[in-house]
Amino acid sequence: RPSLSVDPVAGLMLEEVSLARIAAVVGTPVWVYSAGTLRRRLASLRAALEGAGLNATIHYAMKANDNLAVARVLAAGGAGADVVSEGELRAARAAGIPASAIVFSGVGKTERDLRLALAEDIFQINAESAEEIEMISALASSLGRVARVCLRVNPDVDARTHAKITTGKAENKFGVAIGDAPAIYARMAALPGIEPIGIAMHIGSQITAGMSAYRAAYAKLADLVRALRAAGLPVSRVDCGGGLGIPYRDEIAPLPEALAGAIKATLGDLGLPVMIEPGRWLAGPAGVLVAQVILQKGATRRFVVLDAAMNDLLRPAMYDAWHGILPVGAAALTAPLSPADVVGPVCETGDTFARGRAMPALPPGSLVALLDAGAYGATMSSTYNARPLAAEVLVDGARFAVVRDRQSYEDLLARQRLPAWLSP
Ligand code: LLP
Repeated sequence: RPSLSVDPVAGLMLEEVSLARIAAVVGTPVWVYSAGTLRRRLASLRAALEGAGLNATIHYAMKANDNLAVARVLAAGGAGADVVSEGELRAARAAGIPASAIVFSGVGKTERDLRLALAEDIFQINAESAEEIEMISALASSLGRVARVCLRVNPDVDARTHAKITTGKAENKFGVAIGDAPAIYARMAALPGIEPIGIAMHIGSQITAGMSAYRAAYAKLADLVRALRAAGLPVSRVDCGGGLGIPYRDEIAPLPEALAGAIKATLGDLGLPVMIEPGRWLAGPAGVLVAQVILQKGATRRFVVLDAAMNDLLRPAMYDAWHGILPVGAAALTAPLSPADVVGPVCETGDTFARGRAMPALPPGSLVALLDAGAYGATMSSTYNARPLAAEVLVDGARFAVVRDRQSYEDLLARQRLPAWLSP
């Protein structure tokens, strides 16, 4: 993890800033993101696509991390956005991503979502059902607009990732069955208010099992595009989705060159521009969650109880996900290790970040960093147990700034009302 290093005095550093210093200034738990890592990863992804000779655009999946500063760094590097809600569309625009670089995905866009997408004249809407296409056509026509629409197909391949984040099997709710796509696409071409511009797919997330699922899905897509063209239907682009996995532990994750190669080999001869929608690959390794040890307890089993919990970083509880955990203090980084369960203070056994993990002694007040927490970390947080949302910090070289304030207890209660009849 190139942006993390150890200073013999200051301990764990992200770029040139000590995480202990950030914790001292901002408090814990706190998400800390590296601008340099975001920039480097975006650049290497682009280099891989260009190296394969692809005419490709990158649309960052905002769901991974919708912090405005994170999106701004990626936007400045030339990324567009993939959004799935009005909130994400607004965040993308607020971060400076032009409407002309925004794709709207999602299996259940509301009329309100679509109205905003049309009003903003975003680049592309990915439709996921015949029903949605009728809805888009009716709405766009009534507003005097033409929606550029890609049809998301479900290629029925197994991306061999966690069942909860597999999206390209026939049994999953996403897209239209690939066999139904030609008829639906023809219908799109016939309807007012819709300009059919291409085909989209996304087969799942945290894909590490090589390129075979991607290749199988893209090959089906290529056949579909050829069939549509043969039927005289216009196809001007292919949206290849996101899903490229990262190594959280010791997985051998495919490199962007492998993805670019798979796209080139299967879709290259169509001569179409392609798009990808990466979220995790860009943002995951760029962030850590810094937490403080409240106490260690247990005689037979050592529990390290943090002030961060499943409401902050849900992935271990939700997907049994493994996240690296490093002590932040210089001395602890070289101290002897023994097994510990690293847990949060929430009243659920699932509130466990790691079981039997080799950790140094971590007396109360020590800091730890949960690694690779830049994607699906803060965005999946809740206020469960009435715990305020943690602060977010961006590090850029030797600078750092709070990019989202910690939620206050006033904020936490601000939207609640007691009905008059309950008044004393
Ligand atoms: N495009 C679409 C249509 C998607 O549904 C997703 C993710 C992406 C792109 C970005 O996928 P990525 O490149 O980040 O893998 N919360 C889960 C991950 C859920 C992913 C949902 N869709 C986790 O923490 O592992």
